[in-house]
Amino acid sequence: MTTSAAGPVPGSFEVDRSAEVVAASFARTADPRLREVLDSLVRHLHGFVKDVRPTVAEWEAAVAFLTATGQTCDDVRQEFILLSDVLGVSMLVESLNQAAGDGLTEATVEGPFHQIPSPPRRLGDDINVAGRPGEPCLITGRVVDRVGRPVAGATVDVWQADASGFYDVQRPGELAPGELRGLFRSDADGRFHFRTIVPAHYPIPTDGPVGDLLRATGRHEYRPAHVHVAVAAPGLRSLTTHLFVAGSPYLDSDAVFGVKDSLIVDFARVDDPARAAAAGLPNPFRHADFPVVLDRAEGAKGPAS
Ligand code: BEZ
Ligand code: FE
Repeated sequence: MTTSAAGPVPGSFEVDRSAEVVAASFARTADPRLREVLDSLVRHLHGFVKDVRPTVAEWEAAVAFLTATGQTCDDVRQEFILLSDVLGVSMLVESLNQAAGDGLTEATVEGPFHQIPSPPRRLGDDINVAGRPGEPCLITGRVVDRVGRPVAGATVDVWQADASGFYDVQRPGELAPGELRGLFRSDADGRFHFRTIVPAHYPIPTDGPVGDLLRATGRHEYRPAHVHVAVAAPGLRSLTTHLFVAGSPYLDSDAVFGVKDSLIVDFARVDDPARAAAAGLPNPFRHADFPVVLDRAEGAKGPAS
């Protein structure tokens, strides 16, 4: 503790008690949650700095990196979310906020490409509206609650990359907005189905500071092939997740740590002209089935298990 002619100065800055001194400065924060968050932030941040002991030049480089991250953001580009993604923080927040187990469908990151609303479509529609090249595919599923009751009228919002790994919003001249997106409603039995093509694995954006970080650390930028699915229904907890294509490269090293085993789905090859005709697809085609089990919304009444 620093001393003065009048004795020790209690709030003065000392390396040994830096976190306590700074945390105490927030002690009168009226909102208890904000106070709790700031207290933990200060303690962890000071612990981190004491652990790493950056030089002043290193700290300035860190601030420059965060400044560049902010300057890369605009209405559609969100480099801070991408940074949170590649540090695994987005997945950690998702996972900590999901009710555990009980066969509920697991959540994963939303990602930056849900920028435009998906066009409403009818069950059975083809979301590959422009007939882009790719393996034809049928995706089916059924939305149920945690006790297995079908959820009729749930919105099932899907978006995906094409067979070259691009979303419509990444190729504005080539792909029309709404290609490979669709907003469906489950039928009376909770079922949904639509036609599409099998998506490809693809790189996350690397032309900003997050790309610099990946290159500096020898990490790759790829995500395994997946279809995004967001399901919502009244009284039930909304779910944002993916179906990952079994066998895709990068399932074991997703750049944003989004893979969960339960979300890896077999896109089975079906060679059956009658089934192909019934689905409205050429033969052969691929078929993926994705059951969706939703939790009760917080505060909603209903069976507990
Ligand atoms: C995506 O799957 O669309 C995505 C998720 C996180 C970062 C970049 C892309
Ligand atoms: Fe994606």
